[in-house]
Amino acid sequence: KKVVLAYSGGLDTSIILKWLQSEYGCEVVTFTADLGQGEELEPARKKAELLGIRPENIYIEDVREEFVRDFVFPMFRANALYEGLYLLGTSIARPLISKRLVEIAAETGADAVAHGATGKGNDQVRFELSAYALNPEIKVIAPWREWDLTSRTRLIEYAEENQVPVPKDKRGEAPFSVDANLLHTSSEGKVLEDPAQEAPDYVYQRTVDPEKAPDTPEYIEIGFEKGDAVSLNGEALSPATMLTRLNEIGGKHGVGRLDLVEGRYVGMKSRGIYETPGGTVLLAAHRGIESITLDRGAAHLKDEMMPRYAELIYNGYWFSPEREMLQALIDKSQEHVSGTVRVKLYKGSAAVVGRWSEASLYSEQHVTFEEDAGAYDQKDAAGFIKINALRLRLIAMRDRRLKG
Ligand code: ARG
Ligand code: SIN
Repeated sequence: KKVVLAYSGGLDTSIILKWLQSEYGCEVVTFTADLGQGEELEPARKKAELLGIRPENIYIEDVREEFVRDFVFPMFRANALYEGLYLLGTSIARPLISKRLVEIAAETGADAVAHGATGKGNDQVRFELSAYALNPEIKVIAPWREWDLTSRTRLIEYAEENQVPVPKDKRGEAPFSVDANLLHTSSEGKVLEDPAQEAPDYVYQRTVDPEKAPDTPEYIEIGFEKGDAVSLNGEALSPATMLTRLNEIGGKHGVGRLDLVEGRYVGMKSRGIYETPGGTVLLAAHRGIESITLDRGAAHLKDEMMPRYAELIYNGYWFSPEREMLQALIDKSQEHVSGTVRVKLYKGSAAVVGRWSEASLYSEQHVTFEEDAGAYDQKDAAGFIKINALRLRLIAMRDRRLKG
């Protein structure tokens, strides 16, 4: 029996690794992905080797470009926000991890995959729905739902009994649960569990406090092609490089902090602190370029679909026919979403202050308060309004009649 484990190299997944070897007696293949979480990956290799994983069973991959190009950017074409605010930084990374787990299982002849998500959260659902969608026969092992290591103390004991190295700072309570990648950092649990209490400053990891951000604003120009960001201040950038740069600039100006209580798919509410500096800039800029290049009918239709699309991603249905159908609609809408947006960053805000495009639908000649040289006949508006008002007038007449 062989299992492919999503392995971060951290304490929890190292314990899972050991547990799979001893409780399940299976050969473990580890998969560690660089999603831009900002951690060295080589220590994960060392640790896996130390725990007895054969070198050919250790997979370490940089998937940053694929992550941004095939997952983050398609999602941003939709301006996706869950419950109005959450940019889905964790949700969008899970399908990619599962895809690689399933592929590596096929390559190595493994019949199962394993992950370190708990039985209370969204991540288990996302990992597993993705895995089953890509391989209907795959087995999934979720140790957190099975073992009896239900307290931090039991977990550390198990590690020590089984020669899993425990870093000194992990001996006490875990401070809170963090998930990071190129799109965001999320923090949940512990000091954050009382939603009435403001999050302490040390929770924030990649954005400065907006109050301490630079006193002078910074302007940037983002170029778009068919809905995707392709250049920054005139320089063409790959998807992952683009997001990395936007993170640096946004983080420096305190952009993209969010304190949110959200409804998990499994039913309970949870409170999280999110930092999505680059993504927040990108969303504003994308809406900026859409504002001049998208027709009103197209824009409003995709905005109606957006909450549905965001919920699908949040709930783990990236690999589903309904997500792909909505994606086709969204991608079609982006045909002319090309041009440039100027964004002003200042103390936590990212505001669009300019936008231009060869495919613009904005017509100054039509909208001007000055003489328009016959572009638009204001008299036409009278009939337009009268006919649209007919039903409202009929209602008003009836109400008068009934009142007597
Ligand atoms: N609540 C967020 C979500 O469901 C973040 C989850 C963070 N995951 C974690 N393992 N800490 O997308
Ligand atoms: C977890 O339960 O593993 C993290 C939180 C979540 O998935 O919602």
